[in-house]
Amino acid sequence: MRVVLLGPPGAGKGTQARMLEKRLGVPQVASGDLLRAAVRKRTALGVEAKRYMDKGALVPDELVLKLIEERLQQPDAASGFILDGFPRTAAQAETLTAKLQASGSRQLDKVIAIIVPDDEIVKRISGRRTCKNCGAMYHVIYDPPRNQNLCNSCNGELYQRDDDAEDTVRMRLEVYAATMRPLLEYYERLGLLAQIDGIGRPEEIQQSILGALGNTGATKKD
Ligand code: AP5
Repeated sequence: MRVVLLGPPGAGKGTQARMLEKRLGVPQVASGDLLRAAVRKRTALGVEAKRYMDKGALVPDELVLKLIEERLQQPDAASGFILDGFPRTAAQAETLTAKLQASGSRQLDKVIAIIVPDDEIVKRISGRRTCKNCGAMYHVIYDPPRNQNLCNSCNGELYQRDDDAEDTVRMRLEVYAATMRPLLEYYERLGLLAQIDGIGRPEEIQQSILGALGNTGATKKD
């Protein structure tokens, strides 16, 4: 299956993508994670991207597209993928459609937009903690780790993302509001868009997503 998860910062795209990955047997491909890995490795692309990420602005399309294209060419993405945080602009979406077409791959099956109001987003982002080692995600109130600051799965140290500072979050929300409408309209026109209420327990939201994918139980690779 080829799925895109859209939604504002903190809507739960990463949380849902990781659950879907297990359910559908196809990898999560998160543009933010790819960018953060490039920043950590201090590649030229990472150094350039960091200037935008620190401000809460979008990284230029050509940098993001390069990372995504390389990732989607890896063998584990051949039978499908869950795109998380990409595309972010209509230009990225159009390029994705064109690249899938040019490579002879199947087009997207569904685009899921997770809708969450701003006040809930601020609560979610301010409490988010991520494992430095395996990337597992927690929330200090909604989903706390068993041992404070340590990952339940690998005992790795938990950290708060640099771009989760209040000013940067506000900027990220403004950028989202300014850029998402054309993207949603693009996928609406293609008949691919499903909008999901993102309020509720992660398991309930997962059920809504699976319902929109027409998949309520079985594992599906294609
Ligand atoms: P990116 O990493 O993509 O961040 P984002 O879109 O802002 O989304 P987040 O990762 O903050 O949130 P999420 O929706 O994944 O929520 P999560 O599951 O973590 O992008 C970061 C930056 O990189 C951008 O600002 C930009 O600079 C750049 N970038 C990335 N992609 C780009 C692109 N395509 N083009 C250009 N630039 C790009 O959940 C949040 C918290 O809430 C967690 O603590 C979680 O435990 C909790 N939670 C989740 N679900 C629930 C629930 N149902 N109830 C209660 N709590 C919940």
